[in-house]
Amino acid sequence: MTPDMPPPATLLAECIDNFDDDADLHALAEAATAAILESGGFGWVKPPKPATLEQYFRGVPLVPERELIVGRMDGVIYGAVQLQKPSRNNEAQAFAVQMMHHFVAPYARGHGLARLLLQKAEERARALGFHIINLDVRATQQAALALYEAEGFIRWGVHPAYARVRGTTLAGHFFYKKLK
Ligand SMILES: CC(C)(COP(=O)(O)OP(=O)(O)OC[C@H]1O[C@@H](n2cnc3c(N)ncnc32)[C@H](O)[C@@H]1OP(=O)(O)O)[C@@H](O)C(=O)NCCC(=O)NCCS
Repeated sequence: MTPDMPPPATLLAECIDNFDDDADLHALAEAATAAILESGGFGWVKPPKPATLEQYFRGVPLVPERELIVGRMDGVIYGAVQLQKPSRNNEAQAFAVQMMHHFVAPYARGHGLARLLLQKAEERARALGFHIINLDVRATQQAALALYEAEGFIRWGVHPAYARVRGTTLAGHFFYKKLK
C-alpha cells in the first residue's frame, strides 16, 4: 500500500505499564479514532469520544490480565496491540494467550509498524511463558489477514456469524501460532 507519511527514521514497539506522558495517550486515542473511522476491526464500530478512549487506554495496562504494546514512529504512537492472558481459574488453557485490538492509524500504514507490533507481542508472549498465541479477525480486514498469514499464523476456522457491523453480519477468521 502507499503510505500517507514519509518513511520514519525509527520504528519501535514497546510494552507500556502506565502513561506518564499525556501526549502518548492523546496520540494513541487519535490513532485509534482514525482506525475505527476507517474500518473498525478491533471491537468498536463507532469511535467513542476522545476522553473515553483516553480513559480506556489509561486503564488497559492496569488490568492484570492485559498487556498493552504501543508502536511508535519517530517517537510518536501510531498503533497498538494487546495480549489477554487467561484467567487464573483456566488451568487447561494457561499455556495460551489471546492477541487482540491490533491496529495502526490509516495515515501511518505501510511502514512496517503492524508487523513490528505483532513481533513484539509474540516476543512478550514467549517471555511470559506462553506456548500458543490465538487471534481472531473479521473477514473484511484484508490487510490483517495477509499479515497474519505472512507471519506464520495458521487459520484453523471461520465463524460465519462472528460480528455485526451496521446491520451486516460478518464472518470471522480464527488463527493460532505455536510459540514454542
Ligand atoms: C492490519 C494493519 C494493522 C496493518 O498495518 P500496517 O502498519 O500498514 O502494516 P505493515 O506496514 O506492518 O505491513 C505488514 C504486512 O501486512 C500486510 N499488509 C499491510 N497492508 C496491506 C494491504 N493493504 N493489503 C494486503 N496486505 C497488507 C502485508 O503482508 C505487509 O507486508 P509487506 O509490506 O511485506 O507486504 C492495518 O491495516 C490496520 O490497522 N487495519 C485495521 C485494524 C485491523 O484490521 N486489525 C486486525 C484485527 S484486530
